[in-house]
Amino acid sequence: MQFSLIIPTLNEASNINPLLNSLFALDCLGDQFEVIIVDDGSTDGTPEKVKSWEATHNVRLIERHAEPDLTASILEGVAAARHPVIAVMDADLSHPSDRLAALVQPIVDGSHDVVVGSRYIPGGGTENWPFYREWLSRAGGLLARAICDVNDATSGFFAFRRALATHIPNNARGYKILLELLMAGQGQLRVKEIPICFRDRTRGTSKLSFSHNLIFLQRLIALAGGTVSIRTASRFAVVGFLGVFVDVLIYQWMISQGSGLALAHISSFIAAATFNYTLNSKWSFRLHHPGHLRWSQFIRFLTVGLFALLLRGGVLAWLVYGWGVGSEWAIFPAIIAAAGVNYLGSAFYVFPKADPPVPLHIRWRT
Ligand code: GDD
Repeated sequence: MQFSLIIPTLNEASNINPLLNSLFALDCLGDQFEVIIVDDGSTDGTPEKVKSWEATHNVRLIERHAEPDLTASILEGVAAARHPVIAVMDADLSHPSDRLAALVQPIVDGSHDVVVGSRYIPGGGTENWPFYREWLSRAGGLLARAICDVNDATSGFFAFRRALATHIPNNARGYKILLELLMAGQGQLRVKEIPICFRDRTRGTSKLSFSHNLIFLQRLIALAGGTVSIRTASRFAVVGFLGVFVDVLIYQWMISQGSGLALAHISSFIAAATFNYTLNSKWSFRLHHPGHLRWSQFIRFLTVGLFALLLRGGVLAWLVYGWGVGSEWAIFPAIIAAAGVNYLGSAFYVFPKADPPVPLHIRWRT
């Protein structure tokens, strides 16, 4: 079987020998595959361990000197690969090397473009993984299902046709290169999931940090076509505050002119909504807006606003009548919930990315 196996490493010295021993002991793989280990500046002697294999086995070491990053490392490995079929696995023996043949075969025979070693389909599972890690992984997978129809989109054990990697955006970073790969396929991929049992490492430590999870969320939102960012959120908040002033000013002025309550209320609401929409489209979401105001977009903005208003009332009533919270306190979580929905509705529905990604329609079999 001809393929390139890419293994990213960061301080995995204690795992290199057991891993390479297990790989080269597998009869089912033959001797046509190469192993590319991409190291990101390990300080525990990992590169030296790998080098001791280079003379006798089809093993190559790539040493990166840029900022450590898992996705960037894998892409560097792909660029150096000799075979058009690529497999990726972790170095810590958490992935079952005896499933490599099943992972790679559908790509080699041309029946599929991507094969995912999945923990979350019948026959798959995890062992010795702390509860919070499994929970995080499942939550990530669940969120990812919103944009791609794969059960374990956060798996680090997968195979694919090398040509697909050229579609991955340059700014892709972090742990979830598989997700990038699936989204880069623009709905055209033939994807298969095979069950695997993930066994947590017994040597060395995980490098997954809180910031990796944040990067994952950010990428997920970007891939889903949303325009969520600190920049749009902070500007949206400023516009929201200004809108309250416009609302109150117009309301007070109309009342002082002898206007009825209902007319003053509706007029000030519409004026504030128009003000907010204009400023959000020209400033907060300027990069995601065609430049001129659009009626259809304004109607969507109003719809989101009305929905947020209803939600605010619902949360208020639930807290006050359901939980006995004082109405003077209950208004705060109600406002926060409404503001959150308002912002997300704006980022995903009113001012989404110009070119939302094509959702994947994947055929998968186990
Ligand atoms: N080159 C390089 N650069 N390698 C890295 C880096 C990096 O910045 N960070 C981690 N690695 C390597 C590790 O040395 C290991 O071989 C592999 O990438 C996985 O890293 P771990 O930090 O051990 O991941 P984990 O076991 O906690 O995470 C598992 O669950 C994740 C979430 O589902 C793995 O299965 C991941 O693949 C999976 O995404």
